[in-house]
Amino acid sequence: MIDCTKKENSSTAQNSGDLRGFVNLVIGERYITQSPIGEGGWSVVYKAFDRVLHRDVAIKLLHRPLAANTENLARFEREARTASTLNHPNIGGIYDYGVLPTGQPYMVMELLRGSTLAELIEKKAITSEGEVLGIIRQVAAALAHAHQKGILHRDVKPSNILILSASPNISIGTRQVKLLDFGLAKCIENDKVSTLTDSGVLVGTPSYMSPEQCRRARVDHRTDIYSLGCTMYELLSGVKPFQGGAADCMHAHLLEEPLSMRKHTSQIQITHSIERIVRQAMAKNPESRFKSMEEMLKAISMPDRKGAQYMLPQWGEIASGLRTSLKLSLRLACGLCLITSAYYAAPHLLDLVGVKTVEIDAAALDKRALDEVVKEMAITGKL
Ligand SMILES: Nc1ncnc2c1ncn2[C@@H]1O[C@H](COP(=O)(O)OP(=O)(O)O)[C@@H](O)[C@H]1O
Ligand SMILES: [Mg+2]
Repeated sequence: MIDCTKKENSSTAQNSGDLRGFVNLVIGERYITQSPIGEGGWSVVYKAFDRVLHRDVAIKLLHRPLAANTENLARFEREARTASTLNHPNIGGIYDYGVLPTGQPYMVMELLRGSTLAELIEKKAITSEGEVLGIIRQVAAALAHAHQKGILHRDVKPSNILILSASPNISIGTRQVKLLDFGLAKCIENDKVSTLTDSGVLVGTPSYMSPEQCRRARVDHRTDIYSLGCTMYELLSGVKPFQGGAADCMHAHLLEEPLSMRKHTSQIQITHSIERIVRQAMAKNPESRFKSMEEMLKAISMPDRKGAQYMLPQWGEIASGLRTSLKLSLRLACGLCLITSAYYAAPHLLDLVGVKTVEIDAAALDKRALDEVVKEMAITGKL
């Protein structure tokens, strides 16, 4: 079982640490690796030097054991291709792709200097709602761009979001944010995407997986909205929405409501409008979430004004509510008509079929007398 409380744990991969020794390695006759700067479930990322363009770059190498699997190789290549089709200030750029003589694929990326959100959460470095919104707004903008291009990320979480370093007087919320790791990204074909890999393995990270991802159903852009909601929840409260092992987390995403963010002892004051935005993003039913990443972005950008408005029913919902009330009233009226007709018609119908009805003045009878009447009627077949 995968433990979703671990630092990094995409459910389809395992850390091996086998590439830690890959320092001073010449890659593609052009790049020299210098030092490892990050590691995920699939790969190790090195700082490297590009000898041709004389600049620092980051090189991501697939873990060696994973390179033995053709599906992983295809996934890695797809990640490079997908990320290179995206051109957005909040998405890390891709420069090059290749395969080592050992068969391990690598991709050369823009070197980003900073800390992941996971690291910042651990250090409790984010201290205000404004900072959280400044970060999430940029991630939402990156995802809106990917969705417009027909690409779902499917693994939105704090360790895949990097905040660039800046001078200490620049608040965290105004620093540039980069969304990383399109390793599980998928193009939307026929409007829907499966949550399984080609070999039927579930993809995603349990703590941030949408209910439809947990259910192994087909997903659309709203799966990223849910995961971004989980990321917001963790940033604001300091705690993941659901705790425990992978199975517990997935079960909770499907059936449980997360504890109110205010119940956690966070240093951040959480306003009602932001709480509503998180709740809407994390709605179990995709239909109840924001309709698009742009809509979520608008709500985050104007939480006080628009945030409240987003929680009000839209015109479509009002119309559908009115339709439902009308249908209910009609049913009620029909029901009442039927009961009234049955009340008046029943004695005549019974007469017609030869059953006698007896009117009893209950007030005039005591209980014993009533029993007698009932007994007699039962015997004579009147009842
Ligand atoms: N372009 C980059 N520049 C600097 N560090 C990076 C870059 N890309 C990734 N990293 C670091 O490497 C870690 C793992 O990268 P990621 O793309 O998430 O790999 P995985 O697919 O294995 O999860 C990130 O959490 C981050 O710390
Ligand atoms: Mg990652």
